Amino acid sequence: MVMSKLAPSILSADFSNLSRDIGLVEAAGAEILHVDVMDGHFVPNLTIGPPVLKSIRKVTGLTLDVHLMISNPDEMVSSYVEAGADIITVQYEASCHLHRTLSEIRKNGVKAGVAINPHSPVHLLEEVAPYCDMILVMSVNPGFGGQAFIASSLEKIKKARQLLDSSRSGGLIEVDGGININNIAEVAGAGADVLVAGSAVFGCDDPGEEFKRISSVLEQVER
Ligand code: DX5
Ligand code: ZN
Repeated sequence: MVMSKLAPSILSADFSNLSRDIGLVEAAGAEILHVDVMDGHFVPNLTIGPPVLKSIRKVTGLTLDVHLMISNPDEMVSSYVEAGADIITVQYEASCHLHRTLSEIRKNGVKAGVAINPHSPVHLLEEVAPYCDMILVMSVNPGFGGQAFIASSLEKIKKARQLLDSSRSGGLIEVDGGININNIAEVAGAGADVLVAGSAVFGCDDPGEEFKRISSVLEQVER
């Protein structure tokens, strides 16, 4: 049996207390920290860049899962590698030389992922699937935390799972957006290995306890 993992997204953490908030989920047993990078261009919001990631790297041993919601990601990959990313995911819609971008990420010893927006069908990833360590199915339109899960994403997760399994890449499926304690079992059951949750974890008074509570639901999911 495979167990899915919950990856807290620091987008909903307290940006003036990142170290404290990261420490809370790390102490609660988190292994992966999802870091949302937004450029005010690909998405209408602006978050953190390489200097902040570098500072985060110094205070945590968690796997840093960096989700680049930025235009021209290939221009920035090396900066996020140097800043300490363990996984770098680029948006399919922002990449025109995706095969090259994924190869560049992997060449640096970092895992490479591709995210698809709700409007992009899974079959667009057919050719690059063997070069992906992760496919990220966006279950909201990227840009903001706290949005509602788009139900049709469940079908896409199943398709992405089939694609990765048939490409034998050994890659993971990640799902991001609108995940909470009520829908997480269904999302994991559809074939997600990594489930991102921002507001559901950091929107609570005690993010560490909430991390444990949501994770315990994942332990019940048969996959
Ligand atoms: C949305 C980001 C998500 C965000 C999810 O653009 O990519 O990672 O943090 O937030 P919630 O879990 O609140 O939907
Ligand atoms: Zn994200």
